[in-house]
Amino acid sequence: MAVSPHLVVFTGSGISAESGIKTFRASDGLWENHPVEEVATPQAWKRNPKQVLDFYNQRREQIRRAKPNAAHKALASLEQAGFTVNIITQNIDDLHERAGSRNVLHLHGEILKARSSVDERMRYPLPKGGIELGNICDKGSQLRPDVVWFGESVPLFAEACELVSQADFLLVIGTSLAVMPAASLLSYIDYDTPCALVDPEADRLSPPGVLAINTTAGEGVPALVNRWKQQGNLL
Ligand code: APR
Repeated sequence: MAVSPHLVVFTGSGISAESGIKTFRASDGLWENHPVEEVATPQAWKRNPKQVLDFYNQRREQIRRAKPNAAHKALASLEQAGFTVNIITQNIDDLHERAGSRNVLHLHGEILKARSSVDERMRYPLPKGGIELGNICDKGSQLRPDVVWFGESVPLFAEACELVSQADFLLVIGTSLAVMPAASLLSYIDYDTPCALVDPEADRLSPPGVLAINTTAGEGVPALVNRWKQQGNLL
């Protein structure tokens, strides 16, 4: 039996932009109105946990209202067409899963999950209405969103590197490649594995050797996927 072509996809907030979810570093991006130091660091959590919880509770509601767009759907359809597709996402939303993708690794965690604030391995169902101060886990510690903050380790990084090293093609979508260690994933591809970045800023952002596809995810990803489906390979 022929081995199905293995696509590894690495996504950033740009893939969810056309679903109405803000990216981070644009001039009106999320970090513009909510400084990172106030809502997305262990120090912020220590200083003002309520502010942090309010920020994520609000974001969670926006994410719940959003719908997968043409790019999320195209990736899911490629998997349904028989390709092996692994998605590594920096996004904490669930739009890849809602589009139908089954193999999604959330490098920076998931906003729809809760965890203990003292042990990242202890995950809990999200309390109805979001996480509030006083929602504690069975070991008595306050619950927090199951997301990775700046300055914290990225527990799934090694698994992501392994996936990238196995790819027949690495497709990067909608990320400024500004955050480490996530951005360094690109250096784990085999030397002869093709890699492309779909992003309206791709010309400026693409590292050497990465094909720049200077367009939105909603336009660029379905076009690529349709070509691959017609050809039956990732060329
Ligand atoms: N289609 C594709 N890409 C787009 C679109 C679109 N419609 N709109 C914007 N973009 C691109 C921008 O050009 C930019 O390169 O999305 C990228 C968003 O970059 P950032 O705001 O830096 O977000 P991202 O790369 O996802 O950030 C990585 O940083 O703050 C942390 O944890 C957070 O996971 C996040 C990480």
